[in-house]
Amino acid sequence: MQNKESFVGNPTSAQEGFTKIYADGNPPWEIGKPQPPFIEAADKVTGPVLDSGCGTGNSSLFFAARGLKVTGIDFVEEAIRLARAKAAERSLSVEFLVKDAMTLGDWDERFASVIDSGLFHIYSGDERQRYIQGLAHVLKPGGRLFLFSFSDKLPPEMGGVSKQELYDIFAKGWDIESLQLVQGELNPAFAEEFSDWSPNGDPKMWFAIIRRKE
Ligand SMILES: C[S@@+](CC[C@H](N)C(=O)[O-])C[C@H]1O[C@@H](n2cnc3c(N)ncnc32)[C@H](O)[C@@H]1O
Repeated sequence: MQNKESFVGNPTSAQEGFTKIYADGNPPWEIGKPQPPFIEAADKVTGPVLDSGCGTGNSSLFFAARGLKVTGIDFVEEAIRLARAKAAERSLSVEFLVKDAMTLGDWDERFASVIDSGLFHIYSGDERQRYIQGLAHVLKPGGRLFLFSFSDKLPPEMGGVSKQELYDIFAKGWDIESLQLVQGELNPAFAEEFSDWSPNGDPKMWFAIIRRKE
């Protein structure tokens, strides 16, 4: 079993680690489409949409193809370059920006929905608090966060969150409308390397719909 650090070497920052993964090509999470729960919940997602930590834009492009106004942000330039190329190839209009999700609190943009497919669980402690405050800042009152995150059913080194942690983190100013353990999909190239948290077997990811209170 490898954790994030072991497959990116020993990065001095999360940004450096993710930049290296994209430079190596074919990241473990790259499945060429949104994670399945976003497709199932698609009718509940309204625009404008922010895809936070959008990677190469698989979720952004899916919702843009459904006619929604979408902005995708990622702090890795190569991810955004690939996302823009996919949008051009599919003649879809999405605003893809190189932007650090830790700066959401300083942004003037406002969204009806935020998608987080695999970003939230990367951070802990103060960084997680800052990120959540930023999400509350960019979401319109009554807007929804659609969250796909590692759960504590995964090996501990993956840093997944427990149900109680989620309720504690979103206790003030938020309403968890639904929370379920779901299957995630993984880049097939990593099926062996990540066999103990692969999608087979019990669901080990959270999918939550969380409303920012008015
Ligand atoms: C696990 S990947 C998921 C990518 C994409 N959402 C998907 O589902 O395919 C997490 C993404 O978050 C990005 N990321 C991590 N920390 C970030 C930050 N502080 N600001 C913006 N992007 C960040 C990484 O570069 C990476 O593309």
